[in-house]
Amino acid sequence: MSRVTTYRDNLRNGDDLCTVTVVGENSIISLLIITDPNQTCDIGRPTQPLSHENKDRAEHRMHSKKKREMAASSPKPQPSVQEADPIQVRVVVQRIDAFGFNAVSTNSTFYIGTVVSFIIASFVPGLPRLPFPVIGCMINDISTWFGHWDSAHVILVVLYSGHFVRRTLEVFLVHRYKRKMTLGETLGAPVYYWCFGFWAGWSLRPDLGYTNTYLPLYLIGCATFLVGEVGNCVAHIQLRLLRHVKEDNTHEAPPSGRAIPRGLLFSLVSCPHYTFEIVTWTGFFLATWTLNCALFLAATLITLVVYSRKHHHRYKEEFNGRDGRELYPENRKALIPFLF
Ligand SMILES: NC(=O)c1ccc[n+]([C@@H]2O[C@H](COP(=O)([O-])OP(=O)(O)OC[C@H]3O[C@@H](n4cnc5c(N)ncnc54)[C@H](OP(=O)(O)O)[C@@H]3O)[C@@H](O)[C@H]2O)c1
Repeated sequence: MSRVTTYRDNLRNGDDLCTVTVVGENSIISLLIITDPNQTCDIGRPTQPLSHENKDRAEHRMHSKKKREMAASSPKPQPSVQEADPIQVRVVVQRIDAFGFNAVSTNSTFYIGTVVSFIIASFVPGLPRLPFPVIGCMINDISTWFGHWDSAHVILVVLYSGHFVRRTLEVFLVHRYKRKMTLGETLGAPVYYWCFGFWAGWSLRPDLGYTNTYLPLYLIGCATFLVGEVGNCVAHIQLRLLRHVKEDNTHEAPPSGRAIPRGLLFSLVSCPHYTFEIVTWTGFFLATWTLNCALFLAATLITLVVYSRKHHHRYKEEFNGRDGRELYPENRKALIPFLF
């Protein structure tokens, strides 16, 4: 029992807690152990000593069991598991994600804060004109009418803010988070998002020297951005609907309660929401060509490659085809269809 305390100190998000109830002849013991739900665990014998009276009963049962085994050749019915074994074991595995910060409040704070910092940087008077390429367009010397079309800036502001407003709404209305945010995510994400948001707004200001790229490039970028937005949102709704999937009686549900997502891009990759997020920021980069957007795209790409790998491996571990579980589709990739 003392080991439980030791393990508890080492609990991390995603660890599994296993309650084992051992029902013996004269004792019921509940153990709390950390376990990998994909492995069977040897729980040993009950730790409470048997009383003399129950020792006799246990010996008597063992004796009876031996007699039954010797008479196994007779046409008598086989003893039930309960009769044959004096110990019944019931194992209940539940996912522990109880450590960390609330995902709804932290995520919504990141996203709202990003919109606010982006809008402030986009319009507040008095911001200095930083040297190129810290702010401004990396495709320089545009002297067409489009280069100075101010409405293009307004559209970019709407697209960028719209992404984070949509994500805020999804946090409240679509996602049903079970996990918690780590301290690193809770403190690191605002710095990351808010700084990038502020710098994005600053970079795109026509009054501080930003000029639009070429119209076709701008339009392709905006269209790509919108495709990414729609795809990302649809994938989030698909994930949300998995929360309603009932056990189909043909397969064991994993202890996490998660299901294999199916349909649309999920048939090709484990994390299409991440794929579309990358499409979104690729589009925004194509439309703007700022250093800020290039770096944000690169950071997003690296982050989501790491995240998708993690999710993909988790799906493969949870749905390994063993112990009555489903087998995760073999040919499904993590992030990029047919490639990665
Ligand atoms: N730009 C960036 O660098 C960046 C980085 C990360 C995320 N994002 C954005 O944030 C979005 C969400 O990211 P995330 O990392 O939170 O995604 P996620 O881990 O896949 O989770 C999204 C939601 O879906 C649930 N979910 C995932 N798989 C499920 C399954 N098999 N069955 C049932 N529910 C499942 C999750 O539940 P649980 O709470 O149980 O996990 C969570 O509520 C991304 O799509 C992307 O748009 C952007």
